[in-house]
Amino acid sequence: MEARDFELLIGQNIIDKYHSDVSRESVFEWVGLEWDLLDDVWPPIYSPGGELYADEIPFVEMSSFLEMGCGVGIMSVLAALAGCRTVVGLDINPAAVRNTEMNAERHSVADRVTARESDLYSAIRPGERFDGIYWNPPFLDAPEDVVDSSIWHETMFDPAYSKLRRFLRGALDLLNPGGRVYLWFGEALGNPSLIGDLAEELGLQLRTIKRLELSAVPEALADAFPDHVVNAAEHAQWHLHLLELTPMTRNGAALT
Ligand SMILES: C[S@@+](CC[C@H](N)C(=O)[O-])C[C@H]1O[C@@H](n2cnc3c(N)ncnc32)[C@H](O)[C@@H]1O
Repeated sequence: MEARDFELLIGQNIIDKYHSDVSRESVFEWVGLEWDLLDDVWPPIYSPGGELYADEIPFVEMSSFLEMGCGVGIMSVLAALAGCRTVVGLDINPAAVRNTEMNAERHSVADRVTARESDLYSAIRPGERFDGIYWNPPFLDAPEDVVDSSIWHETMFDPAYSKLRRFLRGALDLLNPGGRVYLWFGEALGNPSLIGDLAEELGLQLRTIKRLELSAVPEALADAFPDHVVNAAEHAQWHLHLLELTPMTRNGAALT
């Protein structure tokens, strides 16, 4: 099976699970806190995300933080709770914007967290800059001709990683000096050198903060990637990782 067909199968499996999941609660517990979950917003409990390792991100050193594709807004709220004064959550899905606002209100940080509907950086205002920019992107590289603009395809798929490329390029113009990009990303069969190659092309120093092997994942992930899906491709080596990308100077030193 081709790598992209395998990624399509994984994504479709998660979408089907979402639509048949009658036990999905409108309030769920995650990272020790309660969160509202609106319909048609990515439920983090389907697959662990970078928020599990939020304490590895130096929010205390940041005064401004941008969460791309904020979904229910967990990382935005955690950044604000950790002391970050200005947090912006952006999402192409209007339900995710509302959901992030609800969770900011639930955790009493609505005065610091602003959520906006945005296609990547389209809703960024002139002059806005950030100390940290994070995304848990749609990281399945499905074939372009099967992907549409429905919310679930936008959430799951990024044919040829074109969104990811635009996200990283755009981040470079929006970081304050010393700022960093954080990315939660997974690679199955296709393109394991993608992030390293992109980092080199864009002059970013890449550091792996956490790496999670499929064999070590909690039950929630095993549900999302059942054996028959994972075994559909030989040599599938799925892993997830939290990455830090730091802009470098021309001589290769990290900018501070
Ligand atoms: C895998 S979900 C992650 C959601 C949330 N950050 C989390 O970790 O739970 C990817 C998110 O990116 C959003 N997204 C996809 N394409 C986007 C785009 N072009 N601009 C902004 N957000 C986008 C989706 O709507 C979705 O909320």
